[in-house]
Amino acid sequence: MTSPWVVFLLALSAATSALDNGLMRTPPMGWLAWERFRCDIDCENDPKNCISENLFRDMADRLAEDGWRELGYVYINIDDCWASKQRDSQGRLQPDPQRFPGGIAKLARYVHDRGLKLGIYGDLGTFTCMGYPGTTLDRIDTDAQTFAEWGIDMLKLDGCYSNATVQEQGYPLMSKALNATGRPIGYSCSWPAYQGGLPPKVNYTQLGQICNLWRNYGDIQDSWDSVLNIVDWFSTNQDVLQPAAGPGRWNDPDMLIIGDFGLSLDQSRAQMALWAIMAAPLFMSNDLRTLSSEARVILQNKAVISINQDQMGIQGRCLLKEKSGIEVFWRPLSNSASALVFFSRRTDMPYRYTTSLGKLNCTAGTYMVYDVFLEKLLPELNDSKDFTVSINPTGVVMWYLWPLPAPQEVRERGGVYPDFRRKYRVSSRKGQPGGLGSPFVL
Ligand SMILES: *[C@@H]1O[C@H](CO)[C@@H](O)[C@H](O)[C@H]1NC(C)=O
Ligand SMILES: *[C@@H]1O[C@H](CO)[C@@H](O)[C@H](O)[C@H]1NC(C)=O
Ligand SMILES: *[C@@H]1O[C@H](CO)[C@@H](O)[C@H](O)[C@H]1NC(C)=O
Ligand SMILES: *[C@@H]1O[C@H](CO)[C@@H](O)[C@H](O)[C@H]1NC(C)=O
Ligand SMILES: *[C@@H]1O[C@H](CO)[C@@H](O)[C@H](O)[C@H]1NC(C)=O
Repeated sequence: MTSPWVVFLLALSAATSALDNGLMRTPPMGWLAWERFRCDIDCENDPKNCISENLFRDMADRLAEDGWRELGYVYINIDDCWASKQRDSQGRLQPDPQRFPGGIAKLARYVHDRGLKLGIYGDLGTFTCMGYPGTTLDRIDTDAQTFAEWGIDMLKLDGCYSNATVQEQGYPLMSKALNATGRPIGYSCSWPAYQGGLPPKVNYTQLGQICNLWRNYGDIQDSWDSVLNIVDWFSTNQDVLQPAAGPGRWNDPDMLIIGDFGLSLDQSRAQMALWAIMAAPLFMSNDLRTLSSEARVILQNKAVISINQDQMGIQGRCLLKEKSGIEVFWRPLSNSASALVFFSRRTDMPYRYTTSLGKLNCTAGTYMVYDVFLEKLLPELNDSKDFTVSINPTGVVMWYLWPLPAPQEVRERGGVYPDFRRKYRVSSRKGQPGGLGSPFVL
C-alpha cells in the first residue's frame, strides 16, 4: 500500500474496544418504525398504519417471508408512542392497552418464532420526545428489567426532556442495567446527537465502551436534502467519527428511507451505497407490505449488504471531492478487497468521470472489479490505467474490487498466469474472495 492508506490503517489499529455484550459485531440490520410511521396512533381511522401490535406483526411477517431475514435484516424495532401514558401500579412501563392488547412479551414471542429480534424505544428524561413516560435516573433499573422480562433484544434510548448532566449519568447507567439483566440487549444511544455529535462534548471512546451504536446527528426525513445533509456532516467530521466505529460499536447516520416517497432510484442507490461505506446500521423505515420491486432490489443487493457487513468493521471515508461535483468514497474490506463509490452531486446529466486506481492511491497492481448495482464483473484493471465511469445525477457507481495475485506469486504456485486467472475467478480459496460474478457469499 502507498503511504496514506497505510497511515490510515495504522491509525485504526489504535482503536478502542467495544461494549462487551458480544452483540452487533457487524452493523445491525432490520426495520424501524419511526421515519415512515412516526406517532400515528389513530387506529380507528388508520388501522393499517397506526403504531400497534398489528403493524409490527405485519412487518415481522414480511421480514420473515420476503427474503429479508436471510440477508441479515433481523431486528424489528418499535419506536416512540408504543407506551401507555401511565406506568402501571408498580411503576413499570406498559404498552398502550388499545393498540397493544396482547402486550409486548407476546409480540416478542411472535417475532422470535419467526427467527427475528424485537427492539423497543425508551427516553432518558422526564418524557419521550412525543410525551410518553420517560426513563428518569431512578427508573433505569426497573425499565431495563421490564424490557428483559418481555424478551426485548435491542433498546434505542432517546434523549428528549433531559440535559447534559442527566445524560452523562444515565447512558452509562442504562448500559450497566441492561448488562445486569443477564439478557443480551443491543444498546442504541442517542446521546451524542443531543450533544452536537463532536468532542469535547462527546467522548467516542466512552460511547464505544457503553453502547453498540449511537445516533450522532439529526433525524433523517423523507427527502434527498436530508440524506445529503447527513452525508455531508459525516464526511466533514470523518476524522473524528471514522475511528470511533468498529465491531460492536457503530456510528448511526439514521434509517434507510429507500422505498418511501422522497428518493429517486438513483438517490436510493446512493443512500444504500454510502450507508454501506459508512458501516452504518441498516434499519429500513418503509412499508414492507407495499414496497416497489425496484426498492426491494436495491435493499436486497447482496454485494452492497456484504460490503456493509464486512467482518473487519472499518468505516470508510470520503477520499476526495472534485470541483466537478464528483466525490469518491472508499472503504477497506477483508481479504485486501475494497469498496469504492463514485458519487455525483450534479443535477445536469450523467457525468463521465475519468481517474485511475493509482490516482486514488490504490496499491500498484491489477484488480478484479465488480460493479455492485450492475451486478457484473468488469474487465480487470491495472492501477495505472485510466478508466471512466458514467455517474447519473445524484447517483452513484459502486465497485467492489480486489487485487489479483501478482504474476510472480502465480508462478510460485506453479500456475500459468491466464489459466490461473480463470481458475482463480471460480475458486473461493480461504483468504481470497472468489466466484465469478458473485464474490459475495453471505
Ligand atoms: C456483561 O458484562 C460482562 C463483562 O463486561 C460480560 O462478560 C457479559 O457478557 C455481559 N453480559 C451481558 C448480558 O451483556
Ligand atoms: C438537569 O435535569 C435534572 C433533572 O431534571 C435537574 O435536577 C438538574 O438541575 C438539571 N441540570 C441542569 C444543569 O439544568
Ligand atoms: C473518554 O472516555 C474514556 C473512557 O471512558 C476515558 O478514559 C477518557 O479519559 C475520556 N476522555 C476525555 C477527554 O474525557
Ligand atoms: C494520494 O496521495 C497523495 C500524496 O500523499 C496526496 O497528496 C493525495 O491527496 C492522495 N489522494 C487521495 C485521493 O487520497
Ligand atoms: C500496469 O501497466 C503499466 C503500464 O502499462 C505496466 O508498466 C505495469 O507493468 C502494469 N502492472 C501490472 C501489475 O500489470
